[in-house]
Amino acid sequence: MADSFFTSRPPLLASQVLAELGPVLTGERDLSHTANGALEVVMAAIRAGSGALFRFQEKPAMLASIAAQGFVVFPQTAVFPLLPKHVHALTNVPGPQRISRERCDTFLSSTGNISSVWFRCIAPLRVHGKLIGALLMGEREEGAEYTPEVLKQIGDLAPFIALAMYNHQLMMSLEERTADNLKLIASVHSFWDDALAAFAATIDVKHIQMQGHSLRVGRYAAGMAESLGMGASEISEMRAAGYLHNIGMVTVDKHLFMKPGALEPGEFQEMADHTVQGHRIVSTVQFPWPKIPEVVRSHHERADGSGYPDHLHNDEVSMPVKIVAVADTFDAMLSDRPYRKKLSLGEAAAQLSWLAPAKLDGEVVHSLLVQLRRDAVSHVSPPRPWSSSGHESKTRKMFLDPAVPCNISPTDIDHMVSELNRRMTRGRVTLA
Ligand SMILES: [Fe+2]
Repeated sequence: MADSFFTSRPPLLASQVLAELGPVLTGERDLSHTANGALEVVMAAIRAGSGALFRFQEKPAMLASIAAQGFVVFPQTAVFPLLPKHVHALTNVPGPQRISRERCDTFLSSTGNISSVWFRCIAPLRVHGKLIGALLMGEREEGAEYTPEVLKQIGDLAPFIALAMYNHQLMMSLEERTADNLKLIASVHSFWDDALAAFAATIDVKHIQMQGHSLRVGRYAAGMAESLGMGASEISEMRAAGYLHNIGMVTVDKHLFMKPGALEPGEFQEMADHTVQGHRIVSTVQFPWPKIPEVVRSHHERADGSGYPDHLHNDEVSMPVKIVAVADTFDAMLSDRPYRKKLSLGEAAAQLSWLAPAKLDGEVVHSLLVQLRRDAVSHVSPPRPWSSSGHESKTRKMFLDPAVPCNISPTDIDHMVSELNRRMTRGRVTLA
C-alpha cells in the first residue's frame, strides 16, 4: 500500500517519478487499476498520506472518484457536483492549488457525498484545455505544507495522468460506438430478412402449388441450422438462402409449372437452368451473407454427383448448400405437384431419411429429424402452463409450417434415426 511505500523511501526526483508512472499509465489494465497505481506513485513522490483521483463528468457536471487511498472511510464513489463556476475555475486555473476550508468553494461544491475538508490540494487534469478530472491530495506526512515546489511536482505529473484518463475515455467511447454499429448491422440483417421474405413470396407466384415454398424452405433451413449448432448470423444466412434458392425460377416459362406429365428434355433443361440463371442474378448483389450465390446455383446437386448443374459430389459443396437441398426436397415432398399428390409427414420423413447418405447429406437429414422429433414431442405432450419445463416448450417456435399436420410419433422418428445411423455407420460416418 502507499503508506509503507512512501515512508520507506526518500523523496523521488521528477525523472524517477516519471519512470515509475510511465508503466503504470500505459499498462493494459482497467481504469481503476491504472488510477490507483498512478495515485500511489504521486502520493509517494510528494509524501502525501491520502489522496483521491476523480473523473470529470460533463452531464450533469461532477467529479466522481475512481481511486482513493489513505482514508479511513471513503465512499465507494465519492462525488462532488459542480456548478458552472467550479467547472470554469478548474478549466482555467493555471495549475495545482492549495485548498482550505475558505478557498475550496472556488473549485468544489459542498453538496456531494464527501467533504472537501479532507483535502489540502487540488490539481485539475486537462488535455488540450479540456477538463478530464482532478487529483485531490490530503495531508502530507508530518503535516508538511504544499510548497510551491511540491505543487510544481504535482503539476508536472498531472498531464500524464490526464492523458491516460483521456485515452481510456476515448477507448470506452470507441467500444460504445462499435457496439452501436453492431446493433445497426443487426437491424440491417433484420431489414434483409423482412425484404427477402417479401421477395420469396413473389418468386413462388407462378403456380399455386409453389406458393409459400421459398418461405417454408427458408424456415426449415434456419431450423436445421439451429439444430446443427450454427450461430445467429449463419442461421440468418440459411433463412435468406432458403428464401432465395429458387430466384432463377422467375426466368422459367410458367406453363412448365402446370404441365401434368413428365417434361420434355428441352423443358427440363429450361427448368434446371433456374439454378444457373439464379446464380447470375444473385452474383451481382452484395449480400451480407457470402453463401447465397453458391446455394442458389447448387441446391439441386446430389451427394453421388447425379444432380445439376455441375454434377458436384457431397464433399464439393458447402454445408449451406446441403441444408437447403434437404429443406427444398422436404417441402417439395409435402406439397402437391401436377404429376403427383403430396406425401404425409411420416412418408416424407422416411423417404428423406432413405435418400441419405447416397443423395442427401446424412448429418443434415439427421438435423431435420431432430427438429421433427421436437415438434412431435410437443404435439404428443402439450406443455402444461404450471410446468416450468412445459413453459419452455410452449415458447419454442415450432419447426414445421403451421399448415403441415404433425401426425408422426417420436418413436417413428427414433426408428428413422437408428436406420439412418446404421446406413451412415456402414459408410464410416457416425451420428452423435
Ligand atoms: Fe430449385
